[in-house]
Amino acid sequence: MLSHHPNTVALNAIGHTRWATHGVPAERNAHPQIGGNGELAIVHNGIIENFQELKKSLLAKGYVFRSETDTEVLAHLIAEGRKHTGSLLEAFAWALRQAHGAYAVAMLCPEEPGTILAARMAAPMILGIGVGEHFVASDIPAFLPYTRDVVFLQDGEIVRITDHSWEVLALDTLNPVQKSIQTIQWDMQSARKGGYKHFMLKEIFEQPQVITDCLTGRIDEEHERILLPELDSLPVPARLHIIACGTSYHAGMWGQHLFEDWARIPVIPEIASEFRYRNVILEPDDMVLVISQSGETADTLAALRLARERGCLAIGLCNVVGSSIPREANAVIYTQAGPEISVASTKAMCSQMVILSLMALYYAQRKRLLDPQTRHEALKALKALPDQLALSLPSMRETAQKLIQPYSAARSFFYLGRGHAFPLALEGALKLKEISYIHAEGYASGEMKHGPIALIDPEFPTFAIALDDALFPKVKSNIVEVQARRGPVIALTNPGTELHVDHLWTIPAAWGPFSAFLALPAMQLFSYEMADYLGKDVDQPRNLAKSVTVE
Ligand code: M6R
Repeated sequence: MLSHHPNTVALNAIGHTRWATHGVPAERNAHPQIGGNGELAIVHNGIIENFQELKKSLLAKGYVFRSETDTEVLAHLIAEGRKHTGSLLEAFAWALRQAHGAYAVAMLCPEEPGTILAARMAAPMILGIGVGEHFVASDIPAFLPYTRDVVFLQDGEIVRITDHSWEVLALDTLNPVQKSIQTIQWDMQSARKGGYKHFMLKEIFEQPQVITDCLTGRIDEEHERILLPELDSLPVPARLHIIACGTSYHAGMWGQHLFEDWARIPVIPEIASEFRYRNVILEPDDMVLVISQSGETADTLAALRLARERGCLAIGLCNVVGSSIPREANAVIYTQAGPEISVASTKAMCSQMVILSLMALYYAQRKRLLDPQTRHEALKALKALPDQLALSLPSMRETAQKLIQPYSAARSFFYLGRGHAFPLALEGALKLKEISYIHAEGYASGEMKHGPIALIDPEFPTFAIALDDALFPKVKSNIVEVQARRGPVIALTNPGTELHVDHLWTIPAAWGPFSAFLALPAMQLFSYEMADYLGKDVDQPRNLAKSVTVE
């Protein structure tokens, strides 16, 4: 947050609570980062995709780096810009035009005391208008105690503030941009949740941004190639054990379908607490992939250690930078989903699924298995997901709200799915039970007739995932079997399918398995609305902790 207070000695300040993306959490990587020989200081939220190439050219010019951050690269680049341009503002814009990726950045400079320059590109930044003081921040709560008057900055805009003035300029031309001031009505509590009632809801709605962030820097657009340099020095696994717990395990199960289909890598999904207590067979060319949002789950960490003791190479897929699993794995890929506060995991699973998709495509690329057309379709579909999801989420929520009442008295639920929708069914059931305390079982729909169908009666509803894919006719038959036992059915499906059920919930389709990215939030919203309707503690469900660091 940045401020300048009236009637006192002029005070300008910048600060940033860092969610590590490049470089572990350590003092040298903390912000502000200093550019040149102390000419300027910046704070930055986001990821500079091309930081490596920029760093290379700055090193060649003699700049000395004291951190591992992409932010320091930007700081030195602005210092370099000072040599090529006439003003500080021009140097700031000069540097930012070369930075690809996402940033909300703010800068202080002794050359222009009393001025703060800030800019945004694909990362939030808001200007707060006070009396004799102005603020810029990534989020409104940072300055809400001081002002409710805000200006929302757009991508490609720079703002220059002093204590008594503010102006917004276009990054490209430095021409002024007209902006309007809006007054925020939220209280502090709801502001921390971005105006949402619960963190879980906020995190569900963050998923389009999460997908964008996960893809950032991981696709070479020109050659349509996947970039996962974290994996380049490791061999392609002959067989992959995907080890995780809870929601992360379900993401791993979903990823199995993609690894097997595209990269032809045999995958064994493993529940971490089972893996660690089995006399597991690990062949010399096997590798393990451990998935954990927190990077601290005790069973997952123990499974990773066991695999490493047995001489197996291990990849970590984690969200929390510098946590235990990344420290102990041979390679780590960070999901870049940002902090997940709600105990019920939502956006973390979405981010894990994006990375698993990229990993499967990456290995297919290394094995030269993927035809260019499939790769093209897959990448096009992945890149389209953020907009598609952002457009769909509000109406999904409305549908979820309408569906709750007829089912709120249910004591139990089945969630059914087949193929890659089976892990989604497990996840849908987990979400419902953990926050609404309604008993729910996820089942492979073809397995119902081997026992569980005995439970079906008019009081026992089924939530069927019936996406428009090759398995649709099979799922449809399973739904009919449930209906023959007078079980009520909600069917989550795509446009164009033909189903006659109690409640048909149609969501947009995406290419191939990526319809999962739309089915998942629909189920998350159903559970969320159910728990909220039943008056449960959505963000802090009973008996659960966010990070399970005990066995
Ligand atoms: O941090 P992790 O991904 O390792 O956590 C794994 C599980 O504890 C977690 O996914 C848990 O199942 C969530 N409460 C699900 O919403």
